[in-house]
Amino acid sequence: MAPGGRFGVQPPGGVGVGVTPILALRDVTYCYPGNATAALNGVNLEFAAGQRVALIGRNGSGKSTLILHCNGILRPQEGSVWLAGERVAYDRRSLLRLRQQVGVVLQNPDEQLFSASVRQDISFGPLNLGLDEASARERVAEAAELCDVTHLLDRPTHALSGGEKARVALAGILAMRPQVLVVDEITGGLDPWMQIQVFAIFDRLRQQGKTVVLATHDLTIARTWADIVVVMQAGRVLAVTPPARLFGDRDLLAATGVSEALIRRRDADDRK
Ligand SMILES: Nc1ncnc2c1ncn2[C@@H]1O[C@H](COP(=O)(O)OP(=O)(O)OP(=O)(O)O)[C@@H](O)[C@H]1O
Ligand SMILES: [Mg+2]
Repeated sequence: MAPGGRFGVQPPGGVGVGVTPILALRDVTYCYPGNATAALNGVNLEFAAGQRVALIGRNGSGKSTLILHCNGILRPQEGSVWLAGERVAYDRRSLLRLRQQVGVVLQNPDEQLFSASVRQDISFGPLNLGLDEASARERVAEAAELCDVTHLLDRPTHALSGGEKARVALAGILAMRPQVLVVDEITGGLDPWMQIQVFAIFDRLRQQGKTVVLATHDLTIARTWADIVVVMQAGRVLAVTPPARLFGDRDLLAATGVSEALIRRRDADDRK
């Protein structure tokens, strides 16, 4: 089905006429080596400053691949990525600028944490930005406090629980103070208290005019938190829609992989 297809919603996900998106993907296509099926196939998306975006879609629909394009870990084979109206060129300077502005927390924190200690890991970004030691220390302390990992700062990164690793990975990205925070499905591994903290962090970022993009399988998050929901299907953007519209459209919901049984359960929950 063509992007948008019968649902008539508006990919490319527009931010409004005359507004420069903070981040945009234009006609992005990407195939992993050795995989004949495109993981992304002509993706057009725009993210506005201050937007809360939920990225949903079935396993393998392309969410993580899309996210890896947001900070240049992957480079489109066709199409382009734009940061605040400037096309990303993939040279050192352009990638550094992109990674300063767009912080990505990976789905698997083991792929993100590579320093020996938690403190070193969270310091890496600020030091890489060229900040002096004192400013970097300040950033580390602030980010560690926000993510409740201050007590873990001197621990080795490999000896943490999954949720702790996710919080350290988030702290490392927050320490860069990005304009856009892209988080790949970390909330599932966090305990309820920490989930609340993470959403409080997201709220604070939004108040600062920053954009938060969250890939999630949690439809309650998509429904209650997001301003806009991007629905991925088989490497394409199937819909870009306000949550109310998504959850009012059973066919679109079903296309996201939500079974009738789940929809009925949600309806029952709503009636409680
Ligand atoms: N390293 C890889 N090599 C080859 N194919 C890959 C690789 N990583 C992902 N793919 C394929 O690319 C497609 C998109 O995968 P992606 O990880 O982006 O999906 P996803 O929406 O993030 O899924 P999930 O909900 O499971 O995290 C899938 O078909 C997947 O099998
Ligand atoms: Mg994924």
